[in-house]
Amino acid sequence: MTDLGDRPVSDARAPESLSERAAEARTHPVLTIDDFSVEYKGDRVVKAVRNVSLTLGRGEILGLAGESGCGKSTLAYGINRLLKPPAVITGGSAHFHSREGYVIDLNELGGEELRAFRWDKIAMVFQGAMNSLNPVITIQRQMEDIFSTHRPDMSRKDRRMRCGDLLERVGVDRARLRSFPHELSGGMRQRVMIAMAMALDPQVMIMDEPTTALDVVVQREILREITRLRAALGFAVIFITHDLPLLLEISDRIAVMREGEIVELGDAVELYTNPRHEYTRKLLASFPSLTGERGDFIRSGSHAQNGELV
Ligand SMILES: Nc1ncnc2c1ncn2[C@@H]1O[C@H](COP(=O)(O)OP(=O)(O)O)[C@@H](O)[C@H]1O
Ligand SMILES: [Mg+2]
Repeated sequence: MTDLGDRPVSDARAPESLSERAAEARTHPVLTIDDFSVEYKGDRVVKAVRNVSLTLGRGEILGLAGESGCGKSTLAYGINRLLKPPAVITGGSAHFHSREGYVIDLNELGGEELRAFRWDKIAMVFQGAMNSLNPVITIQRQMEDIFSTHRPDMSRKDRRMRCGDLLERVGVDRARLRSFPHELSGGMRQRVMIAMAMALDPQVMIMDEPTTALDVVVQREILREITRLRAALGFAVIFITHDLPLLLEISDRIAVMREGEIVELGDAVELYTNPRHEYTRKLLASFPSLTGERGDFIRSGSHAQNGELV
């Protein structure tokens, strides 16, 4: 990334200029990604992720921004070992730091361990996830499946109760448990997917364009829900989207990705007010809603404090 100016990524700043959350990410990480690289080794080799290093702090919302095709999804899948050929992880590592104090090298996990780990510790909400619900099975059975697989000792009654509680947590009436997916709106189905991702109380949620297919009003409601739940439950989020204005609203820190590399990583408000990398400036300028009066920006100081969306 040498063609975009010589500004350093903000990760290299002096510690005293880091926000509290950024400092927290360093002292209490939940996920550390080091020098991570992924290539698609098809007819043409695509270096989709190049030497990415990131630290996700406990309870932090880290936004991952960048244009379509820059490698965001590949990175997310790679961290979670969900890549399929011709994708190959060509270097680097990812470690999960449990709140119980142990560290897991994601490289070291075998098939079964990995499957258990994925729902339990790191949950993922995929782009278009709402369309992956099975159309002929009720919401209840699909949600209960998670518990019968991962919590086999749980009683049937507890399972039911828990599924209803989870739905209510994301703002869906528990009566909807009896519904089939087609009886719910897109927004509701996406809420169900988020509820399912939260089912086992994960410490990390990776959300890849979770609201992209939804209209703006529904999108905002869901984002509000995610920030509220993060505050209540303390999970950390890697929130991926090409929609930088949206990220500026909800993220503590933002990583800007371009052609497989992180070109800038910093506090969200600071990245907006004082972008250090030329590409970040270009990206900001490509959103008309952000280029007006700086004071118009929706994320006010009070918003930043209470985590509410305006
Ligand atoms: N299965 C695949 N085979 C070959 N190249 C791929 C494959 N999937 C993605 N890519 C390429 O990898 C790069 C990153 O893609 P992706 O991670 O999907 O980006 P993003 O999520 O930021 O839109 C793009 O150049 C894309 O064309
Ligand atoms: Mg993607």
